[in-house]
Amino acid sequence: MCGIVGAIAERNVLPILMEGLQRLEYRGYDSAGVAVRDVDGELKRFRSLGKVTELKKLVDSSDISGDLGIAHTRWATHGVPAERNAHPQMSGVRVAVVHNGIIENHSELRDRLTALGYSFTSETDTEVIAHLMADKLESGRALFDAVVETAAELKGAYALAAASPEDGDRIVVTREGSPLVIGLGERENFIASDVTALLPVTRKFIFLEDGDVAEVRRDGVSIYNSGGEEVRREIKESTLSNSSVDKGPYAHYMLKEIFEQPGVISETLEGRIHNGRLLEASFGHETAALLDKTRHVQIVACGTSYHAGMVARYWLEEIGIPCSVEVASEYRYRKVVVPEGSLLITISQSGETADTLAALRGSQDQGHIGTLCVCNVPESSLVRESDVCFMTRAGTEIGVASTKAFTTQLVALRLLLIALARRRGLASEQEEKMVNELHALPRQVEVVLQLGDKIEKMAQGFSDKQNALFLGRGAFYPVAMEGALKLKEISYIHAEAYPAGELKHGPLALVDASMPVVCALPDDPLLEKVLSNLQEVRARGGELFLFSDHKVNIGLDHYQNLTLSDIYPGTAPIVYTVPLQLLAYYVAVIKETDIDQPRNLAKSVTVE
Ligand code: G6P
Repeated sequence: MCGIVGAIAERNVLPILMEGLQRLEYRGYDSAGVAVRDVDGELKRFRSLGKVTELKKLVDSSDISGDLGIAHTRWATHGVPAERNAHPQMSGVRVAVVHNGIIENHSELRDRLTALGYSFTSETDTEVIAHLMADKLESGRALFDAVVETAAELKGAYALAAASPEDGDRIVVTREGSPLVIGLGERENFIASDVTALLPVTRKFIFLEDGDVAEVRRDGVSIYNSGGEEVRREIKESTLSNSSVDKGPYAHYMLKEIFEQPGVISETLEGRIHNGRLLEASFGHETAALLDKTRHVQIVACGTSYHAGMVARYWLEEIGIPCSVEVASEYRYRKVVVPEGSLLITISQSGETADTLAALRGSQDQGHIGTLCVCNVPESSLVRESDVCFMTRAGTEIGVASTKAFTTQLVALRLLLIALARRRGLASEQEEKMVNELHALPRQVEVVLQLGDKIEKMAQGFSDKQNALFLGRGAFYPVAMEGALKLKEISYIHAEAYPAGELKHGPLALVDASMPVVCALPDDPLLEKVLSNLQEVRARGGELFLFSDHKVNIGLDHYQNLTLSDIYPGTAPIVYTVPLQLLAYYVAVIKETDIDQPRNLAKSVTVE
């Protein structure tokens, strides 16, 4: 998975492409490249290992400019991160290609092209695309036809853009399974993996559909569907804010996003609750009709979003709705038995995660009553392809480690819970209580955020550690999983989460003075049980790092009281997530890692 951007204009497009790449870095950042058509009509390519800033240094030190170009930021799939594997991949000087996705039949195509005399300079699957196109251009095809014929030979998922000096004034793009948008300007047009890349230059977008091939010229765009017919696709106006990608006074996007949580939780509640009642009309008729029929919920998601689903299972089963939760990469490939009245809920920040999308697409004939997505990006594929959506309003999340997306997903799931509980006879006093608990959340999160300095001190206990255990019970087990994921993602400390009761069945063997054990200790019916589990850790010399909202006294070195007197069991998993995010953040600061873009990861995983 990677980010692609392209432009054709009457001005120098390099600044547009470099800005676009920077905005797409969430999709990958191990190498980057750009090719522009210079004044002589030739394609000039720059590529570099590392992030877009490295490429920018290279570009800035040259005096090249161009009115047409394509660019790419890479997350390696085939071939190590290296300059030779960075895109654009070229076939001689004939054609340049940028590609997002995976070509499954690349080795067979490579053998065929090698036999035809093409020599390969990279280990990428993309280079076969460039040579295939060159071969078609060689036999006299126009670039558009070369792309159509090449695409017909590719198996797998792709979004790609091609430019050739031989068929100069156009960029030709196509997609199958990977996202691609066209941005429309005044005598200039653009392409990109998503709208955020192009927000500085346009607000008008066309979302290509699978199988579409488009020719993007300075004065217009022509789109053809997979059957070769010219089609008109709707032009959509984006309402995304351009400034939302600013870091402000914060050292990292992750910290900024952690601190944005009170605000975005309020946003997610806005217009959906009022006077102690859920405003069901805000869901829309279709969602309400689906909820009426729901007897079972199947949640499918990946990463942090999967953890949100796991918390929701505890909530849903408490009101008597059977719920299963599964990671999308497993769900999509197994035979599933769908209970009667089952609603498929996908959860995704980006709405572009390949496995989650594939699970949704594969559910067509599984017999669900419908599909609902909880998503943060209105223009995403998941939103467009689900029957109904419930949008979180976290705003653009840039930090690879998800924070505000998770807490707003939990808020959205809590609202859905109230709607479902209503259908099971939720008393109005009980509804009022649940709604008021949600209403109190932004203030509670504010209070926890004020503990930043204290948590920063706690973080010092992790500076020399290689491993960490996170414990939790009930809905706090997935909270522990999320805490462990945050720590491992950004500090590279190996962290695992366990249901606290499972400790004695294995992980206790690992506990000694070098194993920090982190636990959220809410005042709930399982408190005594968790305290016993923690005593077991303590007795073996394990160092405890605890967060609680009441006094615990088991001889603790690292204990932080959340100083909240009114944490409610239902929303406590949301509140308790925040100190774990801060802990991971401050450990990573001490470790001096690349917090917003940790090694080997990407924000949005659009390949399998
Ligand atoms: C990647 C990101 C995670 C995210 C996961 C699912 O692994 O690094 O932060 O939780 O994808 O992404 P989604 O956009 O579907 O929520």
